[in-house]
Amino acid sequence: MNLWLNRLASPVPAGPATPADLARYELESAGIRAVLQEDPSMGDAYRIDPQEDGLFRLAGGKTGLLYAAYRLITAQLCGESILSPLSDAPKYALRMINCWDNMDGSVERGYSGRSLFFENGRVSYSAERIKTLGRLLASAGLNVLCVNNVNVHDPAQRLLEDYLPDLAALADLFRPFGIRLMVSVDFSQPMRHGIPTADPLSPDVRNWWKETAAGVYAAVPDLAGFLVKADSEGRPGPFTYGRNHADGANMLAEALRPFGGYVVWRCFVYNCRQDWRDTATDRPKAAWEHYAFLDGAFADNVILQVKHGPFDFQVREPLSPLLLGMKQTNMAMELQLAQEYTGHQIDLYTMIPMWKELFEELPADSIMSVAAVSNLGNDENYTGHPLAAVNLYTYGLLAWNPETDAEAAVTRWTRLTYGFCSAEERSLVSLLLSSRRTYEKYTAPLGIGWMVNPHDHYGPNPSGYEYDLWGTYHKANREAVGIDRTHAGTGYLDQYPEEIRHKYEDPDTCPDLYLLFYHRLPYTFRMKDGRTLIQRIYDDHFEGLEETRALSAALSRLPFPEPDASVIRERMNRQLYNAREWCDIINTFFFRLSGIPDEKGRKIYD
Ligand code: GCU
Repeated sequence: MNLWLNRLASPVPAGPATPADLARYELESAGIRAVLQEDPSMGDAYRIDPQEDGLFRLAGGKTGLLYAAYRLITAQLCGESILSPLSDAPKYALRMINCWDNMDGSVERGYSGRSLFFENGRVSYSAERIKTLGRLLASAGLNVLCVNNVNVHDPAQRLLEDYLPDLAALADLFRPFGIRLMVSVDFSQPMRHGIPTADPLSPDVRNWWKETAAGVYAAVPDLAGFLVKADSEGRPGPFTYGRNHADGANMLAEALRPFGGYVVWRCFVYNCRQDWRDTATDRPKAAWEHYAFLDGAFADNVILQVKHGPFDFQVREPLSPLLLGMKQTNMAMELQLAQEYTGHQIDLYTMIPMWKELFEELPADSIMSVAAVSNLGNDENYTGHPLAAVNLYTYGLLAWNPETDAEAAVTRWTRLTYGFCSAEERSLVSLLLSSRRTYEKYTAPLGIGWMVNPHDHYGPNPSGYEYDLWGTYHKANREAVGIDRTHAGTGYLDQYPEEIRHKYEDPDTCPDLYLLFYHRLPYTFRMKDGRTLIQRIYDDHFEGLEETRALSAALSRLPFPEPDASVIRERMNRQLYNAREWCDIINTFFFRLSGIPDEKGRKIYD
C-alpha cells in the first residue's frame, strides 16, 4: 500500500504529545536537525530559517511548528532543498473534512469500505490507523475532521450524550496532529430529552443546547464545533416552527460561543419533493432564495457552508452565486472528495483542475474556510482507489493555499507516493490531470449533469431523474435539450453579478462547457467551432471513450507496486466498461430523439 508518507519508516509515536512535540519527533526520525521556537501568536503559521551547517531554525505556533516539520520532511522526500528563509500561513482558518459516516459502520456515499470510526452503533476504531490518518491529514495541512454523517441517524445523537467519553478519546488521538474534531448534530435533539419542541426561540430549547455544549466542551475542550444539515432532504430544522435559518444557527452559536466553537450551517436547502410538471421552480435558485436575504443576520461564530455549485457536486457546475453574494457572513465552500457523481473511486477522476476553476472565480476573501466530503474508509489504502488519494492530498494543499499550482500539487503527491523515475512521473501526472476532462466527455454533456442511475449515481441513465421529485430535469425532446436559466428563462442567472451574467447569458458567447447548464438549445445549434450541438455531443462521447482506452494502456505501462497495481488494473477494467456504456447510451439516446446521424459515420446504436 502506498500512501504519500509511507516512505517515513518511523511509526507514529504512541501516547499524548502536543503538535510541537510531534514535530520534534518527526524531524528527528527523518534525520533533520532543527531548533524549534514556539510562538503561540503564530497559530498555524511558520517560518523556516536554514542555517549554514544544515540546521534549521523553525518558529511557529504549536500547529505551525508541525506544518513546518512536514514541509521539511516532504521536501526531503521529494529531493528538494530549502536554502533560503521561508514563511507560510494558511489562507483558510478551518480546513475541514466532513465524514458521512454512520454509527452502524456504513458510510453514506462511501466507496472505500466501511467507517474508520464506527461499527455496530458504537465508536470503534484502530488507534494505529487513526494515527496514520492523523499524520496524512496534518502533512496535507488539514485541521478539522467532522466524524459523523450530516444526516444524523440514530444513535449518532449519543455522541453528545453517553458516547461523549468515546468521542473524547478519539479527539485525544487526533490532537497531536493539530486536528480538531467536529460533530454533526440533529436539530431536533432536545426532543429526545423530554422537551416537546426544537423551536430555536424556545427558552427550554436554548437552555438545553447551552447545557449540552458545556458538557461536550468539558469532555472535548478543543471541539471545532457543530455541523448542521437542517430543513434539507427531510432533516429537522427551524422551518417547522416558522423560524428562519439565522434563528436556528444563532441559537446554536450562542451555546457554543463561550467555548470558542463554530456552528457550520449547511445551505443545501431546496425542494426535494418537486413535481416534474412544475416549470416555475428551478432547483439551482433555491440556496440563494433561502439565504441571501439573511446576509448580516448570522452570529460571528456561524459559518454558512455552501456546496460549490448550485446543484449537487456534478462534474461541471458554475460556482454557486451564494458564495459571491453574502459579503457580511462567514462563508465556507463545500467540495466533495467522495466520488458520488464522479465515478465512485472506480473511474479515475482527479479533482484539482475542477477546484482550481472554482477558486479562480472566487473573489479574494469571499470565504473564510473550506470543507470537503471525505473519500476515506477502512480499505487498506484508505481511499478505495489508490490514485484517489491524490484528491485528499491536493485538497489539503489548496485549502492551505488556493493558488497552489495543480500540476505542482499532483507532481508532489506522485513523487511522495511512488518515487517513480522522471518519465514515469510525468506520465502519471499528465494522466491524472486529464482524467476529469475525460470523465466529463463520456458522461453527461456540456454542463447538463444528472444523466446518472438514480440514487446510486454510477453509470448512465439519461432519463433516470426526468420524471422524479428532485428538480434535476434536462427536458430533451426531438428538437432541443436543456433549461433556459437566463433572465428570459428561469432567471437563475439574475442571481449573479453583472460580469458573470454577461459571460453566460448569450448562447453564442457562453463557454461551451456550460452551454446546456444555462441554455435550452436545438440540436442544430452552431457551436463556436462550427460544429452542431448534436455533433459536439457525439464527438465528445467518442473522444471520452477513446481517451479512456488510451488511459488504460498508459497506466498499464507504469510500474505500480503491489497491491496498488492489481487494484488499479481491476478498477481500470470497470472504468472501461463504464465509459463504453456511457458513450453508447448517451449517443443512442440523442440519436433516437433527434434522428440526426453522426457526420463521421461512427457506430451509434438505433
Ligand atoms: C446529496 C447526496 C446525499 C447527501 C446530500 C447532502 O444529495 O446524494 O447522500 O446526504 O447530498 O449533501 O446532504
